[in-house]
Amino acid sequence: MREKILEQLKTTEQHVSGEALSAELGVSRAAIHKHIKKLKELGYAIESVPNRGYRLLRHEAFNIYELKELVEVLSLELTPYFFETIDSTNTFAKTLERPSIVVALEQTAGRGRRGRTWISEKGQGIYFSLLLMPQIALDRLSAITQLCGLAVARSIGDKAQIKWPNDIYIHGRKVCGILTELQSEELSSPRLILGIGINLFSSAAEGATDLKEQGLDLSARQFLHRFLESFFPLYEQFLKLGDLSFVRQEINDRSYLRGKRVTVSDSEELYTFEGIDAEGLAILNGTTPRRLSYGEVSVRRHED
Ligand code: BTN
Repeated sequence: MREKILEQLKTTEQHVSGEALSAELGVSRAAIHKHIKKLKELGYAIESVPNRGYRLLRHEAFNIYELKELVEVLSLELTPYFFETIDSTNTFAKTLERPSIVVALEQTAGRGRRGRTWISEKGQGIYFSLLLMPQIALDRLSAITQLCGLAVARSIGDKAQIKWPNDIYIHGRKVCGILTELQSEELSSPRLILGIGINLFSSAAEGATDLKEQGLDLSARQFLHRFLESFFPLYEQFLKLGDLSFVRQEINDRSYLRGKRVTVSDSEELYTFEGIDAEGLAILNGTTPRRLSYGEVSVRRHED
């Protein structure tokens, strides 16, 4: 019902009377009043004028209705879930059965890579997970994480760089992290969970930055819109082609590490980071050149 009222308000710039809404939707005026009150609590700016009715002033609120609308507008085959607060969108996504998107405005137990915590305060950013079930070989899945990073970078603009495999940096400071988790059972398609945390308005972690500080004022909804619009065409293309050759150049052009001297968590050796190959492997040049499918790459300190 609440959704229907919202739809009616969104379709006109005029006031809509309580009477008209109640006749149209077949419920009492008291019920309409109650739903309007709830919509205001959800963040919609609704003006109520005696004898004229209700008018939606702006709809920048972000909630399950807006998320559903976004999924519909972009024709995505995802079941939407929205939480004001949750422990972790990735943890929740693991319990789901179908391709889904789980969005939260706050996480109480946000998880980062390598067992780290991802600080996820309300009003600071947006935290969301995609549960995807691509029918491809397991060793191809890590490339999808890089597409996710590329989609975040595109959503931000030219100054966003990708720190292999998928952290997003602006001017040398991290603005977004991605936690990819995989669940696979022999008979079913693998379940890939891509968890994305992006600092929109402030950043609590040391050395991090946020979009606002970098001069980009995007609401959670606007960012998500840009991201989904960018990610899904990349994902579809990847499923058809099977590798990253179609975006390799762009990923390398946006590379934060390219040309830098780096070390890898499993060795003392120093390498030059050359970029990625079509599979998404990091090309490292050194005494013993190698290609890396996963791992933590650190920039040698004085070059950071
Ligand atoms: C990292 O850089 O260490 C990865 C951070 C990933 C954080 C996101 S926020 C949404 C999703 N839910 C989580 O608990 N973590 C990911």
